Amino acid sequence: MLSKLKIKYFSRFDVKLTVFYTFALLLISLVLSSFFYYRLQHSLLKQIDRMLIDEAKELILEIEADNHIVKGCNMFFEDISYRVFYPVFFRVMASDGISLYESENFSTILSKGIKQREHFTVTVDYRKKKRYRIYETRFTFKNKGPFVAQLAINTMRSDKILNTSLQNIFSAIPVVFLLSICCGMYISQKPRKILRNITAVTRKITSQNLVERLPLPPGQDEIRDLTITINFMLDNIESSFTEIRQFTADVSHELRNPLSAVKGEIEVAVSRKRDAADYRETLHNCLERIDDLIKMVNDLFLISRFDAKKYDLKLSRINLAGLLGEMHDFFLPMAQEKNIHFVIERCDTVFASVDRHKILQLLSNLMDNAVKFTPENESIILSLIEHSHEVELKVTDSGIGIPESDFENIFKRFYQVDPSRSGDDRGAGLGLHICKRIVDVHGGSISATRNKIKGTTLTVRLPLN
Ligand SMILES: Nc1ncnc2c1ncn2[C@@H]1O[C@H](COP(=O)(O)OP(=O)(O)O)[C@@H](O)[C@H]1O
Ligand SMILES: [Mg+2]
Repeated sequence: MLSKLKIKYFSRFDVKLTVFYTFALLLISLVLSSFFYYRLQHSLLKQIDRMLIDEAKELILEIEADNHIVKGCNMFFEDISYRVFYPVFFRVMASDGISLYESENFSTILSKGIKQREHFTVTVDYRKKKRYRIYETRFTFKNKGPFVAQLAINTMRSDKILNTSLQNIFSAIPVVFLLSICCGMYISQKPRKILRNITAVTRKITSQNLVERLPLPPGQDEIRDLTITINFMLDNIESSFTEIRQFTADVSHELRNPLSAVKGEIEVAVSRKRDAADYRETLHNCLERIDDLIKMVNDLFLISRFDAKKYDLKLSRINLAGLLGEMHDFFLPMAQEKNIHFVIERCDTVFASVDRHKILQLLSNLMDNAVKFTPENESIILSLIEHSHEVELKVTDSGIGIPESDFENIFKRFYQVDPSRSGDDRGAGLGLHICKRIVDVHGGSISATRNKIKGTTLTVRLPLN
């Protein structure tokens, strides 16, 4: 139980972040301390080496001034005997290694060896627990030589400085460790708070409750960007859910009407015994309703394919004038039935790369509306005009028209200006929406305008390339 709790605690994001930041800060402090320690050691050693070189020069100058090696060495010995902080020791030898002068106990610091070049070394007197920095150089005097001068400085002072700084570093480690933990906790606090917020808000989100949003944190950092993005995503999900709900409600409403009508017809037919002609009429009416239902289900299926972007466009180069003529011939008898003057005013021969089946459906929906919403003895005029980069198709009628306030809505699914205007021939409000989707996938545009005197013009523009 306890180990489970431990595992849970250490797998928490904020704990991991705190541990990470703590070790990162600790590591940085250790690296920096080591760097400064070695810099200090290096500069102290350099300082001692400079001192040794200066002292060696002075020794040689004293010898030259006194014109005698031993006298010069004596003078130099007097000078250095006052040095307290960095005591200096020295020895002068002939090139064969015979000692000519030696300050007190120099042989206990360094044995009588001679190297053949100028150099620095470090030697340790383990008995007295002292460290010395040695400098060896050679010089000539009165055209004799070379003579060897060896100088030593006790590094006790610089060692003490180094030891003190090392102690300081070690005693600062627990403080740095504590500070690192505090900093780690503080730095991980912000992402932790935001993650908690996200978890709390997203837990509240269900299909019934999509209004929750994350509070925006102050500042202009990535966390704010992330919060905005999540809220934007929630906005999109909410509007998609609303759309789906509305769609489901509209579909069930539109399906209920024809189904109720079919049910009513059948109920009336079976309520008492009837002759064959009555039954035939009932069946005929039911068939008409079922045809409407099938058309609506097909339209819905097509819309769902557009939504899923699975409309598989079969493009081919087609003469649009031919399609327009075909649809005109199809709708002409219906227009004639209402004594509507139905003509093609201008029809350019235009070849365009389109999906034949979908363009026929577009023309059919537009002409169906025109015939449906144009009263008897009025007119419908079609035109197909080629422009430099596009083709313009117009269906102009002198029918009942569309109020301007409805122009922006008529291309929405299930939108009908006023269902009572369609009379018996009531659609589902999907025709113009499908027209827009077809035009969109061809890269074109569709718009509705009011005619000067009366009626509506629907204009479709399709690109020629
Ligand atoms: N040519 C037109 N004249 C007048 N109103 C029209 C015309 N075309 C479309 N409308 C209006 O736009 C609405 C949407 O048309 P549509 O999507 O084809 O639906 P439906 O034909 O199923 O009612 C119609 O209900 C109708 O009120
Ligand atoms: Mg229609």
